[in-house]
Amino acid sequence: VPVKNVTADISYLQPGTRLSEKKIIVTGGGKGLGAAMAAKFVSEGASVLISGRNEKILKETADNIGCKYLVLDMQDTSAFDRFISDADALLDGVDCLVNNAGISLHEPTFFDVTPATFDAQIATNLRGGFFLTQSFTKMLVQKIRKGNVLFVSSETGETVDIRPYGFTKAAVNSMVQGLACLFVKDGIRVNAVAPGITASDMTGFKSDGNLFLASNATERVYLPEEVAETACFLLSDVSSCISGQVIVCNNGKTINPRWK
Ligand SMILES: NC(=O)c1ccc[n+]([C@@H]2O[C@H](COP(=O)([O-])OP(=O)(O)OC[C@H]3O[C@@H](n4cnc5c(N)ncnc54)[C@H](OP(=O)(O)O)[C@@H]3O)[C@@H](O)[C@H]2O)c1
Repeated sequence: VPVKNVTADISYLQPGTRLSEKKIIVTGGGKGLGAAMAAKFVSEGASVLISGRNEKILKETADNIGCKYLVLDMQDTSAFDRFISDADALLDGVDCLVNNAGISLHEPTFFDVTPATFDAQIATNLRGGFFLTQSFTKMLVQKIRKGNVLFVSSETGETVDIRPYGFTKAAVNSMVQGLACLFVKDGIRVNAVAPGITASDMTGFKSDGNLFLASNATERVYLPEEVAETACFLLSDVSSCISGQVIVCNNGKTINPRWK
């Protein structure tokens, strides 16, 4: 029987240091879930770089949080290799990518979906995340560096849908599992958080406003900070045995029990 030397890297929770030495890119980090994640990661000791299209918002958020920023449009795939290389230099060796940037165009019905709304959501949520991850993992593999990729999926990826937003998230979930298997030998983990309806500009709910929402399992919208806690766990080394998983943050709303 062949014998292999194996080691177990086990980490323990230390409040405030869960992500120390992590160098993390958060796309769409200027506001919403991305900004909450970036703030959480910094508070846990990480060096963080946020990206997005709106430089003013990025600068304000970066100043508030204490992180770096770069402008990047997720639809401009030609800029991705350069962006990863610039982020790597600014963070002095990036090892985590959070694919958070996304849009939901909320077409009222199936018949309101147009080629333009379809393409825009695919380009930002799916195509952008795919090719940015390709650029990022190419760099990690070239540098023989371990890493971690986290996608922000959605509970809509867990259910059937009639609109492109849900299709993009279902495809993201497939991609997460495929890439996790592809990169396990390179020490690169790939997971997703899949939030339920959470307060942000995307949903119109405000964190300091009315949080009641009958259709959520707990009858309230979630806060970006709750998603950030799960994201922090998945980027930290305490979850080092977890890859290819989609952690759904909605108190079981999209589980389909026999008695429902
Ligand atoms: N809120 C929810 O209930 C919920 C639930 C499930 C999943 N999610 C997911 O969570 C992620 C964040 O959403 P959110 O709720 O925080 O929405 P949000 O407040 O509208 O933020 C969206 C972010 O994505 C960025 N973005 C959009 N299009 C972009 C593009 N072409 N290039 C670069 N950045 C782009 C925006 O930055 P710029 O405008 O500066 O580019 C912004 O920072 C999305 O992937 C969304 O699908 C949200």
